[in-house]
Amino acid sequence: MSSTSKLGILLSGRGSNFLAIADSIANDQLKGCEIAVVISNKADAPGLAAAQERGLKAVAIEARGRKRAEHDEEIVATLRAHGVDLVCLAGYMRLLSPEFVQAFPQRILNIHPSLLPAFPGLDAQQQAFDYGVQVAGCTVHFVDEQLDHGVIVLQKTVTILEGDDAHALSERVLEQEHIAYSEAIARVVSGQYTIEGRRYIKR
Ligand code: GAR
Repeated sequence: MSSTSKLGILLSGRGSNFLAIADSIANDQLKGCEIAVVISNKADAPGLAAAQERGLKAVAIEARGRKRAEHDEEIVATLRAHGVDLVCLAGYMRLLSPEFVQAFPQRILNIHPSLLPAFPGLDAQQQAFDYGVQVAGCTVHFVDEQLDHGVIVLQKTVTILEGDDAHALSERVLEQEHIAYSEAIARVVSGQYTIEGRRYIKR
């Protein structure tokens, strides 16, 4: 990796995790990183507008009517054109094709609002709440070819409180997500780790 790691952010919606990463870089909590490009599969994603407002390169690549592999090929080409060496999925609500995953081996991170392997997929906080867990949380993990499955870099826990509902829980999980993602990126760009099987091991 070059001395400054170039991040490529993929998002589909409001982009609060992207903004938390951008803030961490701006206030020097997350050192040695810059956001090279923000890409969305939704042209009207609020996160994309926020990227533009911050003067970042923001690109919409709509999936409409295209095969996943073809859409992903354009995203990979755009990431490469901007010299991206770490891809960060931040509320990117589309599965990646195997070709995309293979284009950035162990170089794609995702954040998921549950303690994986519990509650993969959509509405993870609601799933956790309905299941009756007493501890919930979020996970930052490398992306592999299975949904919400790759090697775990970092998790943060959130305790369920009396009188909670899924909405209140989601808000507290989101606060932890905003802390967790920058910490996980810092770990990965430091290169101070090895992966043994499914285990991320700090060096
Ligand atoms: C976040 O809670 C993120 O963990 C979740 O979508 C939300 C995006 O919020 N991602 C997934 O569920 C992926 N499986 P944001 O757009 O404000 O960052």
